[in-house]
Amino acid sequence: MTENKRIVLSSDHSGLQMRAAIVAHITELGWEAVDIGPTTTESTHYPLHGKAAADLVASGDCRFGIILCGTGQGIMMAANKVKGIRCGVCSETFSARMIRQHNDANMLAIGVRTTGEGLALDIVDAFLNAQFEGGRHATRADMIEAD
Ligand code: RB5
Repeated sequence: MTENKRIVLSSDHSGLQMRAAIVAHITELGWEAVDIGPTTTESTHYPLHGKAAADLVASGDCRFGIILCGTGQGIMMAANKVKGIRCGVCSETFSARMIRQHNDANMLAIGVRTTGEGLALDIVDAFLNAQFEGGRHATRADMIEAD
C-alpha cells in the first residue's frame, strides 16, 4: 500500500498568510497539500474550519492536518471534537515532536498571533519528522479513543 502523503490545511481568517507559507513548505518536502481554505480574510468561524479539516483526517483521506487560528486554541478544540482526532497546539518544536512520539497526534494547531512564520515552519518540520513510539504510549492513546 502506498503511503498517504496528503496533509489537509485550514484556518480562520487570521491564517491565510501563514497557511500559504506552510503549503509551500510541505509541498517542497514532498507532501501533497490539501488546502481547504478559506480563501479570503473575511471574518469567519474557526469551529467550521477545524471540523472540516478534522473530518478529512478522521476519514483517512488525509494523513495529517495542520490548522491555524489566532491562538491555535479554538480551532484545536473544534478538531478534537471529531472522533479519532488527536490535535495539539504547539508554539515550540519540542512539543510538536512529542505530540507525535507519545500522543500519536494526527493534527497540529499553530497560533498565528503567538508564533512567527519561521518558527511555525520549524514546528511543522518537528511534527512531520517525528514517529509515534507505540508501546506504553499506544495504551494511553487508545485510552483517549475509548468511549
Ligand atoms: C478570532 O477572532 C479568534 O478568536 C481566533 O482566531 C482564535 O484565536 C480562537 O481561538
